[in-house]
Amino acid sequence: MIISVTSLKGGVGKSTLSQNLAVCFAHMGYKVAIVDADVNDSSERWSGLRDMDDNPPIMVASIDSPQALRNNVKLLQRDYEVIIIDGTPALSKLVSTIMLLGDIVLVPIKPSILDIWATERFQERYEDAVATKGEDIPGYFILNEYDSRMKFNIEAKEAMSDLGFETLKTTIKTRLAYKEVIQDGKGVYESSNKTAKQEMTNLANEVISLIA
Ligand SMILES: Nc1ncnc2c1ncn2[C@@H]1O[C@H](COP(=O)(O)OP(=O)(O)OP(=O)(O)O)[C@@H](O)[C@H]1O
Ligand SMILES: [Mg+2]
Repeated sequence: MIISVTSLKGGVGKSTLSQNLAVCFAHMGYKVAIVDADVNDSSERWSGLRDMDDNPPIMVASIDSPQALRNNVKLLQRDYEVIIIDGTPALSKLVSTIMLLGDIVLVPIKPSILDIWATERFQERYEDAVATKGEDIPGYFILNEYDSRMKFNIEAKEAMSDLGFETLKTTIKTRLAYKEVIQDGKGVYESSNKTAKQEMTNLANEVISLIA
């Protein structure tokens, strides 16, 4: 399965969710690859820090041109069961290709009105991609850095239900664990934070259930 993690907004958690989902799937027994299409090479750098002997290995390939992405994702599918594309925040052809390739498109979004406004252009891109593909591309928002104790978070979530894009049931909280694990090339699944581990497991299971 190909999971495209993309958005037109920077810093919303694409790389964080890509890496943490990859780790979670790897522990579930899947052969996992990340395709890093991020201009900052975040996942590529993260992968350089990962101890692949003591932790389940995760293949990371940096690719940032649309045609190379198509070709190499096809090749990776021969050897990997889960391919996660860590997207780039640009209004480019690359973003359309990332969406076209996904069996599911996950769009991280922070619960702020600014982020919700930023999705308007994204949706135009998404609709173009669906028209090009000629079939539906299942797309979902995933609320990152969500806190249900804050009124504006709940209001933002409600506002999102008008956007014509479904929101995943699983939400991701702001947690130090997400920042701490990066320097070891790990995911929260491999940390001592049980709540974060459960949160990521819930997300992985929800994604599997939507693709199946
Ligand atoms: N749930 C979270 N809890 C705590 N910190 C988070 C969380 N999600 C993301 N962050 C932090 O927010 C910052 C941006 O996250 P990240 O790099 O994953 O976003 P991105 O969408 O990939 O950014 P870019 O568009 O630049 O590629 C990072 O410092 C990351 O550690
Ligand atoms: Mg990134």
